[in-house]
Amino acid sequence: MLILCNWKLNGKKNILKKFFVELNNLCIKFKIKSNISISPPIIYLSKLYEILKDIKSKIILTSQNVDVHIQGAFTGETSVYMLKEFNVKYVIVGHSERRIHHFESDEIVSSKFDIVKKNGLIPILCIGEHFQESFDKSKIFIKNQIDSIFIKIGKKAFRNSIIAYEPVWAIGSGISADPNYVNDIHFLIKSYICKKDNFFKNNNIVVQYGGSISKNNVYNFISKKYIDGILIGGASLEIKTLFPIIKIIEKFSK
Ligand code: PGA
Repeated sequence: MLILCNWKLNGKKNILKKFFVELNNLCIKFKIKSNISISPPIIYLSKLYEILKDIKSKIILTSQNVDVHIQGAFTGETSVYMLKEFNVKYVIVGHSERRIHHFESDEIVSSKFDIVKKNGLIPILCIGEHFQESFDKSKIFIKNQIDSIFIKIGKKAFRNSIIAYEPVWAIGSGISADPNYVNDIHFLIKSYICKKDNFFKNNNIVVQYGGSISKNNVYNFISKKYIDGILIGGASLEIKTLFPIIKIIEKFSK
């Protein structure tokens, strides 16, 4: 199972080594088999790359963002080529905080998804409705977000990619979504994509859940049939809140 940790705009240079060494040691001590990936602010990727190499850690790096261009006059951006230099494996695209605060449209998100895939990294596409609405309304919203990727890239778009279902209202609010509802949405996402691309058999596209995950609720999510993994925000910032979640996942992993 994949455990994705999104640090967002948090962290400090001088805590990185301590955090990663401690997390790595705990993973070894408790023989953790899940794949753990941390997504720090981009400026820390290079330091973390060195730290992970030094301690021979299996922790994977994810980027929180990428530009739609490879190089050129695009001030302030980071290219997928640069991410590859630091062994980044996954790239989050379309997180609601980027869609909202940086006005990333479905069109921009699709271009980012495309450039990540074309360059051999794995996009983690974040989708999810903004408000607590009826299942049917959410369904239309989510299908539209998925369709924008199909329109841009074609029916094979989701091969070698991950989807993170993150209802916007559940992010950072302390109010996670109902696990049964999430399970139904995941089934919808999986069957919708499988119907378009028969490469996916038995709904085997990976769909993570994100939104106020903590040690108190994580089991309720990972025990559901169609929830393949999780995306943790706030609770991933400290070992004392993150590691208990990892241990629960490890114990009950499918
Ligand atoms: P949260 O963030 O766990 O703090 O709700 C999740 C996310 O935005 O990925």
